[in-house]
Amino acid sequence: MFLNSEWWRSAVIYQIYPRSFADGNGDGIGDLQGITGRLDSLAALGIDAVWFSPFFRSPQKDAGYDVSDYKDIDPLFGSLEDFDVMLAKATSLGIKVIVDLVPNHSSDQHALFQAALRAEPNSAERDMYMFREGKGHRGELAPNNWESVFGGPAWTRIEEPNGELGQWYLHIFDSSQPDFNWENENVRLEFDSVLRFWLDRGVAGFRIDVAHGMVKAEGLPDVDQNLSTMTGAEAENAPPHPFWGQDGIHEINRRFRKVLDEYQDRAMCAEAWLPTIDKMAKWVRPDEYHQTFNFSYLGTPWDKEKLQAVVNESLDGFGAVGAPSTWVLSNHDVIRHATRMGYAEVPKQGDGIGPDYPQPDEAKGQLISRAATAFMLGLPGSAYIYQGEELGLPEHTTIESKYRQDPTFFRTNGERVGRDGCRVPIPWKADEPAFGFNQTGESWLPQPESYVRYARSTQEGLAGSTLELYKRLLKVRKDFDMGNGELIWAPEHAGANSLGYTNNGILVLANFTGSAITMPPGELMATTQQNLLVEEVLEHDQVVWIKL
Ligand code: GLC
Repeated sequence: MFLNSEWWRSAVIYQIYPRSFADGNGDGIGDLQGITGRLDSLAALGIDAVWFSPFFRSPQKDAGYDVSDYKDIDPLFGSLEDFDVMLAKATSLGIKVIVDLVPNHSSDQHALFQAALRAEPNSAERDMYMFREGKGHRGELAPNNWESVFGGPAWTRIEEPNGELGQWYLHIFDSSQPDFNWENENVRLEFDSVLRFWLDRGVAGFRIDVAHGMVKAEGLPDVDQNLSTMTGAEAENAPPHPFWGQDGIHEINRRFRKVLDEYQDRAMCAEAWLPTIDKMAKWVRPDEYHQTFNFSYLGTPWDKEKLQAVVNESLDGFGAVGAPSTWVLSNHDVIRHATRMGYAEVPKQGDGIGPDYPQPDEAKGQLISRAATAFMLGLPGSAYIYQGEELGLPEHTTIESKYRQDPTFFRTNGERVGRDGCRVPIPWKADEPAFGFNQTGESWLPQPESYVRYARSTQEGLAGSTLELYKRLLKVRKDFDMGNGELIWAPEHAGANSLGYTNNGILVLANFTGSAITMPPGELMATTQQNLLVEEVLEHDQVVWIKL
């Protein structure tokens, strides 16, 4: 049992995507006042903390992951006062607030980048970012062959103050997101101050965006193969990538950690898409991150052997450095797991599903995603929930091109539709405009008809609904302190196609495929199988929690 101050070891953290959670002013984009008005529902769900995707000042070219002022709220979402009101309300409900820090790049509208554009090549201003001379006779070719994660080249050439074409700047993402030069001490100082700004304001910690991209290999060598993914590699033993997961980042991790340790009980979680859990574990050594997203778990299909292997690897790998494992199935960058789990094969991360792609098997997705969630929420460690998954919300897979917003769509001429389908405003009330997202019916992305069936109002209090399942799982998880518990596999309770583990006296039993299994005696604490009675059989793709 860890001290309560180490809350992050076992916390259930709910991700709010501010544009799409609740819209207070009715303009079709969610905001802080809307969020504050709906925090009660999160307290009722039983989560410990909320992580907010960025609501900082931003031209919104990448939905806020293009920050032009790290110390202010974008007027689209409200003001710093609205933030303080929201924080106070969350605190009064016992919910901690985590904000999203985007240190790899800023917006091209950030004052520092604008100053760099006005300055001369090789100036101190330019050195805050990654400016380089082009190749070719007149510098007309990009400095190297790197491609942006969103498609197209990772370099853009600028017009110098004298009006002539000049240097190029690096952007691993959109051209509106220039990469900072983290070798420059002034960049580090700038972010020390951003961290302190939010810590002083009372946040419990940070989710750090693209943490594994901040340091680039010396000399910026070409990549062997451009995969435009967040790992840059498909093979686990691929050679080091010139802009992902460079060793030099650990020094930055330690610097961030030192700043957090000036305060009490704060934590940070890395968004670091590293190909193996071994590599991820290096990021959560005692003087680095508290947590890192377990993307290996997210990428694991509903498969008995694969799940058991990834859980073992996670508990061993993170445990070896004294860190908790995290567990996550959905976020704002991946296809929602209620849809993903209905496919045998899904498009790669970030590509999304459009109307031309084979459409999902909704019933299968619901069945398996509920089971996958019930399996995940029993595991010891910290779990992440993405807004709407507690409603079983599917991906919107038929968004028309004219509504698309993700830069990926534009940078690939629609070839990769991108991530809009998991970012649609969530449904609160089945029979209200915009499903209760606001009062006006406006919505920055269209909501699918199916939301009627998934609205919170449809599920609230309804036995067997996905929302009630989440509430029940989270309650039992808390009552039995399963987040701080210990996993012990329980083969004696499982058969050939099932997998069981115990954690603090609760047996979590999953039946994967094939025939039904008889449940062991005990008190039924939670079940994905509707109307299940004790001593009955557990069907395939169902999970039960039993108190032994
Ligand atoms: C992270 C964010 C993603 C964003 C990207 C660039 O991966 O999660 O949404 O587009 O960084 O900031």
